[in-house]
Parts: sequence; structure tokens; C-alpha cells
Amino acid sequence: MSTAIYPGSFDPPTLGHVDVAERAAGIFEGVVICVGSNVRKDSARLSGEERAALVRAAVGHIGNVEVEVMSGLLIDFARERDIRVVVKGLRDVRDFGAEQEQALLNRTMAPEIETVFVVSDVRYGFVSSSAVREISLHGGEVREMVPGGILEDVQRLYGRGERSKRI
Ligand code: PNS
Repeated sequence: MSTAIYPGSFDPPTLGHVDVAERAAGIFEGVVICVGSNVRKDSARLSGEERAALVRAAVGHIGNVEVEVMSGLLIDFARERDIRVVVKGLRDVRDFGAEQEQALLNRTMAPEIETVFVVSDVRYGFVSSSAVREISLHGGEVREMVPGGILEDVQRLYGRGERSKRI
């Protein structure tokens, strides 16, 4: 099958994201992971390039995956590359509402682009970037949620430090 885009904020990337990337890479010839910003959420702690560097380190073992940063609309990113499939991960039914909304918004703007959902492994049903951020900020243990190769970076970048947000 052709190439797909797997977009997300990846703030930070988690084992759930890697699981979805591995599954997508098993289905499609190539997967472009695109690191964007969700303006409906709090602004990301790290820049797009910094998050992309974490994603690259987390998915380096997957041969047919590349990582890019996206600054505008997802549909423009896809059209510029002539890619017609967007992959999103679903942990459970709670993810579905927001993901369906995004898929329908994208379809309204770009009917030729299809969104495909991949269900992540049940082991990662409780894992989220927001949980990793919160636990890291308080110095807690996130090794069960974050790829080992980026664990130290995540703890440093999302822990209490010069860049930490006041809470
Ligand atoms: O990690 P998330 O919150 O699922 O990522 C959301 C993201 C970055 C994929 C989404 O907000 C996005 O596509 N942003 C780019 C701007 C855009 O195209 N918005 C319209 C579709 S919602």
C-alpha cells in the first residue's frame, strides 16, 4: 500500500505512539510521522523540532518511517507530498469523538484524504502524553510509558527545570 501520514503533537512521544507507528509501518509502504501543534490544547512545552528529535530517536528502529515537522494545516502537508491517507491511533472509545471530529474536518477541507484508525495495544490504554508531562513534572516514574531510548531526555526536558511551567 502507499504512503501514509501519522500526525500528532508528540508532546512527548510515548510507547503508545511507537506502537501505532509500528502498526502503520506494517500496513503502508512508508509512513511520514508529522509533528504538529494542536492549538486547541495548551501550547507544547518543546518546539516542533525538539519534539521531532525525540520522535526520531523513538522510531529509529522502524525502517520505513521518516519524521517531519508541520507548521500549517495537515491537509496542506499531505497535498504537498501527494499523500492521501492519514493514520491516527485510538486507545479506546474516549479517543474516538475528538478523532472523528478531526477526520471530518479534514475530509470537509480535503475530500480526497482518508483517515484510517489504528487501535493501539491494550497495554498502552492508560498512557498519554499529558500523563507523562504531569508525572515527569513532579519527578515521578514514567519508564513504563516512554521509549527507553528517550527516557532520560523526557525526564530532563519535562521535569522541573528552567523551562518548567508554573503550576
Ligand atoms: O496529538 P494530537 O492532539 O492528536 O495532534 C493533533 C494534530 C497536531 C494532528 C492536529 O491538531 C493537526 O492536524 N494540526 C494541524 C492543523 C490542522 O490541520 N487543523 C485542522 C484539523 S483538526
